[in-house]
Amino acid sequence: MLFGKYVNKFYLKYWYHFVGGIIFLVLVDIGQLYIPSLIGNVLSIFSNPDRASDLSYFWTADVSNVNSYAYFLTSLATVGLVIFVGRFIWRVFINNLGVRVERDFRSMLFKHALELDVTYYNNQKTGALMSYFNNDLEAIKSAFTEGIIFLIDGFVLGTLAIIKLFQIDWKLALISVIPLALMGICAGLIGKGISKRYKNQLNAFEKMSDFSQENFSGISVIKAFVREGHQMRVFAKHNKKNKDTNMEYLKLSIALDTIIDLLIYTVLIAIFLGGGYFAIYQPSFDIGTLTEFSGYFDSLIWPMIAIAYLINIVSQSYASLKKVNEFLDAKVMLKDIPVEKAKELPAISGDIIFKDFNFHYPDGDTHVLKNINLHIKAGENIGIVGKTGSGKSTFVKVLLKIYNIENGKIFFDGKDINEWPSKVIRDNIGYAAQNAFLFSDLIENNITFGRTNVTEQDIINAADFASIDGAIRRFKDGYQTIVGEKGTTLSGGQRQRIAMARAVIKNPPILILDDSVSAVDSETEATILRNIKQLRKNKTTFIVSSRISSIQNADHIIVMNDGQIVGYGTHDQLMESCQLYRILVEYQALEAEAA
Ligand SMILES: Nc1ncnc2c1ncn2[C@@H]1O[C@H](COP(=O)(O)OP(=O)(O)OP(=O)(O)O)[C@@H](O)[C@H]1O
Ligand SMILES: [Mg+2]
Repeated sequence: MLFGKYVNKFYLKYWYHFVGGIIFLVLVDIGQLYIPSLIGNVLSIFSNPDRASDLSYFWTADVSNVNSYAYFLTSLATVGLVIFVGRFIWRVFINNLGVRVERDFRSMLFKHALELDVTYYNNQKTGALMSYFNNDLEAIKSAFTEGIIFLIDGFVLGTLAIIKLFQIDWKLALISVIPLALMGICAGLIGKGISKRYKNQLNAFEKMSDFSQENFSGISVIKAFVREGHQMRVFAKHNKKNKDTNMEYLKLSIALDTIIDLLIYTVLIAIFLGGGYFAIYQPSFDIGTLTEFSGYFDSLIWPMIAIAYLINIVSQSYASLKKVNEFLDAKVMLKDIPVEKAKELPAISGDIIFKDFNFHYPDGDTHVLKNINLHIKAGENIGIVGKTGSGKSTFVKVLLKIYNIENGKIFFDGKDINEWPSKVIRDNIGYAAQNAFLFSDLIENNITFGRTNVTEQDIINAADFASIDGAIRRFKDGYQTIVGEKGTTLSGGQRQRIAMARAVIKNPPILILDDSVSAVDSETEATILRNIKQLRKNKTTFIVSSRISSIQNADHIIVMNDGQIVGYGTHDQLMESCQLYRILVEYQALEAEAA
């Protein structure tokens, strides 16, 4: 059983699985407790000379009499059937509950993960995030499955068995129950230590899996720098830590099991010694009663172990829930407004104004963009150049409304960016990011990216725009080629151009190509630029490039230096007015000559 704001709702949602499971668990527990009294009675009849008349009655087929074999066999068969069917039914209920809770919880986690800001991920390791979805979810799920089973078995079966023991003989009951209570206390205390060590072990495992994951992603760098040996040594450290924490955890677990075993067998010996003594000196206490008593005691062992396990499971799942809660509690920092429930999102014409705009990333305090004042008219073709790290990518990223922007700083079509829902803005922008991330899916799916209202021709046109159609067709499977994870089976330029096709397929009013034309040869570059000229007429287009040739024909060129705009105008104007621009042009001319 596990409670908390993100889990309570599952009890209500799946109450029928929950209640059904508990009813059948209790039914099976009651059935189980019935067996010792049946067997005890038969043994009593056979062993107790006082019950000679019952013994002669035993072989009659009178089902209604408790002292007949017919009653014994029918009852045993009925109880057996109840236990068998009951167990089957509670397994169905409880396992269904677990699987559903796991599915719902995972969806809730993934939905939240998609809602969180990009910035959140800058400070998170993938391994830690993945563990919410794996280990932690597993621990939470076990509270709903094993947790419920152990709770019911522990308390219902345990209480009933204790009552039965005391009904038979209170002295012998005390002898058996006191050590069991001690065992419960031991389990509780050790359980605390176990859960602490379990947490350490999870942490170590998380670090190790994080390290492996990063190594798989960066395998080509490791090989190129011949760092296999070094990475292996670092991995060995993580692995050792994982083993050590695992051993620490196992030690306590084994200690707990041993104590439980020891106490159980000590009590069993005590029962048979004490019971034997009573059987000899106390006429009412015969072999049958002793068997019945030890049968109840036997039924009490599992509940006690179940309680110990329950303590363990509950503390583990609370530890996991606490971590997951922190993740689910993480707030979306972006101030956004919801989209009105219109069928189609409104269009933006592409007129953009920056007014005294300064920007720093949420996790940094130095301004990356400073004092930007600019009016980009709808339909303009804008080139952005500048040295590396000068803020070009940041300049185009702030348009996507992924970061909070002060009021009165950026306007789309004259309306403040904060008055537009982010969904509307992003729907109106086609963005090919600098790192050109692709999913491990078909090329076609990477271009359409879940859009259903596109035709085959749209896909080809988009690829054609990015001058990648021919290259795709040359692949054996064409558009059906599977891109390796993160696009590893494609060249850098191919990846960038597929990312460009993904950005242009919706023919957005605003298109941003961040460095998309930099990893291609001059001929392909010329083709793409021609396409932009023809197909993006009257549509705002930003081309970020470190190469002058990509932007020199733009309507306006922004020259950036250290977060500031140090030049704005056409190529010819900038050649006149902007020193940095002239330097960039000269360097590139020299480079071209050298090549
Ligand atoms: N997510 C981020 N968080 C904090 N700082 C960042 C982040 N991204 C970039 N920066 C910083 O912002 C500055 C500008 O980076 P930006 O990516 O805009 O440069 P750029 O002009 O696009 O460079 P390049 O030509 O290399 O692509 C850099 O100093 C960089 O360190
Ligand atoms: Mg950049």
